[in-house]
Amino acid sequence: MLDIKMQLSTTPKEKPDQTKLGFGIYYTDNMFVMDYTEGKGWHDARIVPYAPISLDPAAMVFHYAQESFEGLKAYRTPDGSIQLFRANKNAERMQNTNKRMCIPALPVDDFVQACKTLVEVEKDWVPSQEGTSLYLRPFVIATEPHLGVRPSSTYSFIIIASPVGAYYESGLNPVKIFVEDEYVRATPGGTGFTKCGGNYAGSLASQVKAHDLGYEQVLWLDGVEHKYVEEVGSMNCFFKIDGVVYTAPCVGTVLPGVTRMSCIELLEKWGYKVCTDRLPIADVVKASKEGKLEEVFGTGTAAVISPVGELRYEDDVCVINNNKIGEVTQRLYDEITSIQWGKKEDHMGWTIKVC
Ligand code: COI
Repeated sequence: MLDIKMQLSTTPKEKPDQTKLGFGIYYTDNMFVMDYTEGKGWHDARIVPYAPISLDPAAMVFHYAQESFEGLKAYRTPDGSIQLFRANKNAERMQNTNKRMCIPALPVDDFVQACKTLVEVEKDWVPSQEGTSLYLRPFVIATEPHLGVRPSSTYSFIIIASPVGAYYESGLNPVKIFVEDEYVRATPGGTGFTKCGGNYAGSLASQVKAHDLGYEQVLWLDGVEHKYVEEVGSMNCFFKIDGVVYTAPCVGTVLPGVTRMSCIELLEKWGYKVCTDRLPIADVVKASKEGKLEEVFGTGTAAVISPVGELRYEDDVCVINNNKIGEVTQRLYDEITSIQWGKKEDHMGWTIKVC
């Protein structure tokens, strides 16, 4: 159990208009910080005023990108209480990321305790407007000033919190996705399964290209054959073809999303066949031409469930379900958001009460 010292802000900020939150624009009054020193372990857990952090310009995170991050949300329920969604899964994933990035492990219980404590301190920042939440961004950075390439001997674990609305401006309206066939996101043996900043830095050129072509996001193909669908920029991706729901396997190149995992569990509970074998993009295009591509949707903490209305791969443009949200997509959205926002009983045991 962490001994978290409170050194809270004495100058509270004005809270933003809950109808205009956007995503990742506003930050709460305080943040959680804990340091790691080789030989001493994690120490000095504290909640301090949200403020810029001071780092040596030689800090290793700036040069070799040794860092990891997570994303999870705190939800305001109808009775005014606050809950987290499967925070232990984020903690476990951060452990896997840290292992791959040679960052010291953070105990799952400490991660969850830190999130809960920050949310409790910032409870007045958890919005109540439909579809809003308090997004938590835990991250670890390598802080040792050193230019040789090796793991840092010091780190900081920080959690910031941001009241948010929908990730996409279009809300639950279908997004248009460009299938990337030039750049790759991940290859076997690489860092594709981790949540590290480098994965996202490497994706930006493709995202800019897709935006210029009028698409909101990129669908990545596997990095070896450029043949199998993997994931979308900020989401995992599901395809319903002829009654069967497909999503890419988490075999090292795909991020094991918490919402992805939750959707699979619900779909199986509802009796759908979920196939996590590799799915060729050619099969998706063929299914679309044959009228069998019934639904496509993305899943993620930030994006929740996001219907896909159009996929472009090379010269083929697949319009999905007449650019309307599909039945399974809507059912998953309703079920998951009802559990997250406490509008229905949590029959899956996924929520963690904060206060
Ligand atoms: C999330 O869904 O929480 C993410 O981290 C995706 C993105 C905003 C990077």
